[in-house]
Amino acid sequence: MSDNASNRTIERKHSHVEICLHGDVAFNGKTTGFERFEFEPNALPELSFSDIDISTTFLGKTIGAPLMISSMTGGYSEAATLNQRLAEAAERFRIPLGVGSMRQALENSSYRESFAIVRKYAPSIQIFANIGAPEVAKGLTDNEVSTMLDLLQADGLIVHLNAAQELFQPEGNTDFRHVLEQLSILTAKIPVPVIVKEVGCGISASVARQLIEAGVKVIDVAGAGGISWQKVEEIRYTRQFGQETRFSLPALEEFLNWGIPTAQCLLDIRALKNESDGLNAFEIIASGGIRCGIDIAKSLALGAQLAASARYILKALHEGTLEETINSWLNDLRAVMFLTGAGTIPELRNKNLLIKH
Ligand SMILES: Cc1cc2nc3c(=O)[nH]c(=O)nc-3n(C[C@H](O)[C@H](O)[C@H](O)COP(=O)(O)O)c2cc1C
Repeated sequence: MSDNASNRTIERKHSHVEICLHGDVAFNGKTTGFERFEFEPNALPELSFSDIDISTTFLGKTIGAPLMISSMTGGYSEAATLNQRLAEAAERFRIPLGVGSMRQALENSSYRESFAIVRKYAPSIQIFANIGAPEVAKGLTDNEVSTMLDLLQADGLIVHLNAAQELFQPEGNTDFRHVLEQLSILTAKIPVPVIVKEVGCGISASVARQLIEAGVKVIDVAGAGGISWQKVEEIRYTRQFGQETRFSLPALEEFLNWGIPTAQCLLDIRALKNESDGLNAFEIIASGGIRCGIDIAKSLALGAQLAASARYILKALHEGTLEETINSWLNDLRAVMFLTGAGTIPELRNKNLLIKH
């Protein structure tokens, strides 16, 4: 990688964190859809609040709670501090953690430590490597796969599909040919599970079906209602090129809001699990706009194995309230379980969600 290209990548990663912390990057009026649902209250819970057990499993391993810290960063020096602090929190709560795209680690060995640090501070939890669809489309070599996995002693590889983000990114890569074919090749040779996620536009049932047929073990919906990555990249584009726009104004408004709401993705993909046409077993992660423990609880009742969050976790880290925030979310979750009479996570999954009128 040339020095120029490397500097551009570092600028991009820096500005992603800064814009997600301080910019207006929410969807314009489009929500996750969780507010459409409420749990049926149980006036007879027959439980002691203190006995409620929020531990669960993910990809066959026991975890402390049905929450994951979504892929965010790595690949520049300050990212090491962020990743260290995320790793410390994930280890403390015994929850899985994803790192940001590792493209930089493949192209330049200087910043590998900003990824590797997570394993140092989180020796016992599940940690997931991360790479983008355009890299997968080119065909990852065995050496590239083992570099990513070995750096983290990773429990799996997350591939992100981010067509809208790349389209809006000033330096984006919009060649998405052969992603599915290369994913099939990757899942056949890699020794760990492959997770596929979006970054805020959601995954439809028909795409989920193709991914599962290609050997993907987990679909992380990363639906609309949280961050609009089109907005993040539009802010970067405007900083570089001024107000010059590539789209007509009415279309731009609609593109900035492009995506399937998180709850809708869950409803649609959950239906695939009930089909009896021989689809391989798979798990679902709910993400995109998760902001409290009630969202986590609703995610589970809508078919997810766990919920994952990026932006609110990053904000809490920035404000010095990460542990407090996670504790409050897990307490919300326990409260929902108490009020619905679910002593365990498998029981919560079977609770009724009512559609609000
Ligand atoms: C600063 C930042 C950087 C991110 N970088 C990546 C990345 O490198 N790879 C990836 O798969 N997702 C990345 N994401 C997307 C998140 O993992 C997540 O899918 C998305 O932000 C939606 O979740 P949220 O609404 O909880 O933020 C990033 C998110 C943030 C906030």
